[in-house]
Amino acid sequence: MKNRLWILTGIIGIVLIFILRAEAKSASAKPLLENTLASPESFASIKDPQKLSAAYFTELSKVLTNQRCVNCHPSGDTPRQGDTRRLHQPLVYRGVDGFGTNSMRCSTCHQSANFEPGRIPGHPGWHLAPSEMAWEGKTVPEICEQIKDPQRNGNRTLHDLIDHIGKDTLVGWAWQPGYGRTPAPGTQAQAGALVEAWVNSGAACPQQQSSR
Ligand code: HEC
Ligand code: HEC
Repeated sequence: MKNRLWILTGIIGIVLIFILRAEAKSASAKPLLENTLASPESFASIKDPQKLSAAYFTELSKVLTNQRCVNCHPSGDTPRQGDTRRLHQPLVYRGVDGFGTNSMRCSTCHQSANFEPGRIPGHPGWHLAPSEMAWEGKTVPEICEQIKDPQRNGNRTLHDLIDHIGKDTLVGWAWQPGYGRTPAPGTQAQAGALVEAWVNSGAACPQQQSSR
């Protein structure tokens, strides 16, 4: 009787070890799958045209709400840094043209390319998006309406947005952010393809409840 109990306890122990190990493995594998974008084709099963169009935008919103983009599209007059929305250090302000104040121009530190030894991002046109293009703190449906609005999107047509997101090199920095920063999900070309699919399907916006 005693022997049998020991064997039973042993078996239960071994089974438990296997379950726990499998659990740990699946938990650590997750983050690898997240920084990608689905292709427009992968939504083919959605038959309702409105919902299909909105689904493209919801997928695109993974990029728009990514910290690499939001840091330059902040709600106030100061850019953000890193992945936690911390205020830019030192404090810098947009100034009248978005390129900084007279005494603290963005280009004082941000050169024409990433400067790895100083961990400083770079691009020849480095500056802050105007305040009407702020995305920080907004829901996905709100960003969607804003991006379609010529008054708030730099007077762009929907068609302009395809190339702006898919090809503009300042936007493209977010996929080559340098120094250990996590890039925006997928590739810039994939993001452009989603914008194109969204625009060509009528540019519908997701409903409020499907926001972040
Ligand atoms: C005094 C130097 C300096 C000035 C001036 C400056 N920056 Fe920066 N900026 C930095 C440094 C250094 C970093 C990198 C900090 C880090 O990632 O830890 C940085 C990072 C950033 C980031 C974060 C990128 C990311 O996703 O993590 C943004 C956005 C940014 N700067 C925008 C601006 C804008 C816009 C201006 C002008 C209004 C500006 N900066 C002016 C030094 C400066
Ligand atoms: C270095 C700062 C910076 C970064 C990083 C950045 N932007 Fe912008 N963005 C700007 C500026 C400046 C403008 C205004 C330029 C203009 O109107 O010509 C702008 C305008 C836009 C616009 C057009 C206006 C609107 O809101 O509809 C879109 C779309 C856009 N950015 C998308 C992105 C996306 C997507 C990312 C990330 C993948 C991104 N941006 C990252 C600075 C930045």
